[in-house]
Amino acid sequence: MPKKLLSFPKKFLWGTASASYQVEGNNIHSDWWHWETTKKPGQKWPLERSGIACDFYNRYEKDFDLCKKMNNNAVRLSVEWARLEPKQGEFNRAEFAHYRKVLKAAKKRGLKTFITLNHFTNPLWFSQQGGWRQRQAPRIFARYVEECVKELGKDIDAFITINEPDGNAMQGYVTGKRYPGKKLSILGGLVAIANYHRAHNAAAKVIKSLTHTPVGIVKNIGWFEARPGASFFLDRWLARFCLWLVCDSLIHLIHKNLDFLGYNHYFTIQFSYGMPHFPKGPKNDMNWVLYPPGLGRMLTYMNKFGVPLYVTEHGLPDRNDTHRKWYMHESLAGVHKAIQNGADIRGYFHWTLTDNFEWNDGYDPRFGLVAIDRENNLKRTPRPSFYWYAKVCKQNGVEALKTK
Ligand code: BGC
Repeated sequence: MPKKLLSFPKKFLWGTASASYQVEGNNIHSDWWHWETTKKPGQKWPLERSGIACDFYNRYEKDFDLCKKMNNNAVRLSVEWARLEPKQGEFNRAEFAHYRKVLKAAKKRGLKTFITLNHFTNPLWFSQQGGWRQRQAPRIFARYVEECVKELGKDIDAFITINEPDGNAMQGYVTGKRYPGKKLSILGGLVAIANYHRAHNAAAKVIKSLTHTPVGIVKNIGWFEARPGASFFLDRWLARFCLWLVCDSLIHLIHKNLDFLGYNHYFTIQFSYGMPHFPKGPKNDMNWVLYPPGLGRMLTYMNKFGVPLYVTEHGLPDRNDTHRKWYMHESLAGVHKAIQNGADIRGYFHWTLTDNFEWNDGYDPRFGLVAIDRENNLKRTPRPSFYWYAKVCKQNGVEALKTK
């Protein structure tokens, strides 16, 4: 008997997501490049230099061919601010022309383009004059965004202003794990978080004044819940409080300027007797617990904001492709259930197409549906899960899970 298909809505978008710095190579004007190349003795992070990355800058057509082969109908990419504005106020028209070619190549293959304008990295000049802690950061960012809309807007189907602003602010200014590597107080990090959200509002207004293209932001928020079985009132309250703190309180700052919300999902935290824990379950190559119900549950929670939702990242480092397929399958069944329960979810972008530069952790973690051989001219080889995902995209659905 053929297995029952859990079908997704008709115009559902299926794709992969990536970020310019992690795939393009040679982003020499970016602050992260500076961090890599000026690493001091005794400084732990970053472990590796990005160098040529995946050479996506030159190989984008071949990579989009792979998206097409996977029956994708959308792609999430970012443009590198430092390429486009290497010096403050001086825009590089040749680089805009390059991105126009990239966008057209995606469109030619039937891919809707979701473009992130800031995915962690900034021009070095911006960071050196105070980065996201400077008061004028929103105005400077909005100026760059205006140029992007004028130069590239025609081929962009959805604008994502900023990728994971809060997490990036905390890592850059509080834990010091990302550039500029500062260890300030939580209050110091909050200034950057506030500026990021002001920047979203400023950028969204510029975009809206120039086009009708939808504008959103991408959040990376873990799902919080009380540990099933062992839960009592305090655990449920703590889980709700954390969701309010990392999700609601920040989304309210930008709610008026959102046409959609992007959600990046990697973690679930469970409370048990007042203490936070990761759920029990198999682990990926970076020792993160794989807990499929978290994705659908968080999307169901986020539906209350009343805007369409997209899964803008979901994936795992899994060099041998041991877990990718079942993890995607069970997670997507959860997304399907959330849709059935009324959540307005419009697309899923898997992180990521090819193995790429995983920030501080360098090239060791392998997040790709396609493996990259760094010893052999960056040769691309699809993993088995690539073919599985191709089938999902083609049939616009996943098979129903076996009941355990
Ligand atoms: C980031 C990606 C990163 C992925 C896996 C996300 O939070 O947006 O750039 O590669 O996590 O760590």
